Amino acid sequence: MEAGRASTTAFRVAQRRAVHQVLDQPPVLDDPVAVPLLGAQFVFDPKREMHPVARAFRAYMAARSRFAEDQLALATAQGVSQYVLLGAGLDTFAYRNPFPQLRVFEVDFPSTQAWKRTLLAEAGIAPPANVRYVPLDFERKALAEGLEEGGVDFAQPAFFGWLGVAPYLTLEAFRATLETVARLPAGSGVVFDFAFAPEALKLTQRLAFHWLAARVARAGEPFRLFFTPQTLELELRAAGFSCIELRGSEQLNALYFTTRADGLQLATPGLGMMATAWR
Ligand SMILES: C[S@@+](CC[C@H](N)C(=O)[O-])C[C@H]1O[C@@H](n2cnc3c(N)ncnc32)[C@H](O)[C@@H]1O
Repeated sequence: MEAGRASTTAFRVAQRRAVHQVLDQPPVLDDPVAVPLLGAQFVFDPKREMHPVARAFRAYMAARSRFAEDQLALATAQGVSQYVLLGAGLDTFAYRNPFPQLRVFEVDFPSTQAWKRTLLAEAGIAPPANVRYVPLDFERKALAEGLEEGGVDFAQPAFFGWLGVAPYLTLEAFRATLETVARLPAGSGVVFDFAFAPEALKLTQRLAFHWLAARVARAGEPFRLFFTPQTLELELRAAGFSCIELRGSEQLNALYFTTRADGLQLATPGLGMMATAWR
């Protein structure tokens, strides 16, 4: 991330979620805030969006957020009342939060967060009273310190959403984040996606990976961190998580896309995977 510049990839994923609201019925992620938040920046080219690659990426972005929110619902059912969005980008959960007791903390790179707050103001979306903004660069400041300053209660369990961020971090920043989450009491958890180590991919998957990696690198946010399910599980166990679940494209398709008439689903098995880890 470049100082003073908001995240381009945050815009792109928000754009895909917004298009999902307009083109894919019924939406896997029901997000009435996605389009209004982008306002005049929302770009909609139906022909381009019907391309199979665009559809598959859109399906992944929608499923990723839906999955995180489904995992959050499990956490809240167990009494968790703090949701921390790490690298929140233009995530809209806080503005359609169905859980009255849930406090939401949006942590993000300062320039990205400032840009989001401008978009919210332009869209006439007032930040709800239970939302806190925590501007923070994961590579420069300790997450625990930022969260404490932001009002996260370390004596209570919290659930963390960490979508589309891990591949952009150094291993050091990744580990420090997991260690912070693992410091919270039992019942705490984290959901995130990670990039599959390219050398573990099949040829067609590797070609798709290189296309995507070149695209995000051109946006100034290169992928830096990769795992296989085995190496990730070792990291999570070392950080102190006891219950770990990994889900790839096939499982997300089975969860959210089997009954659709429009054929929307994730492609490129193995390229990105979701992990949920509980203390
Ligand atoms: C691909 S976007 C994902 C945004 C959001 N989670 C979503 O799913 O829409 C990546 C996010 O990570 C944030 N990010 C990347 N590197 C960061 C860092 N070093 N410190 C804080 N935030 C960072 C960016 O500002 C951006 O919001």
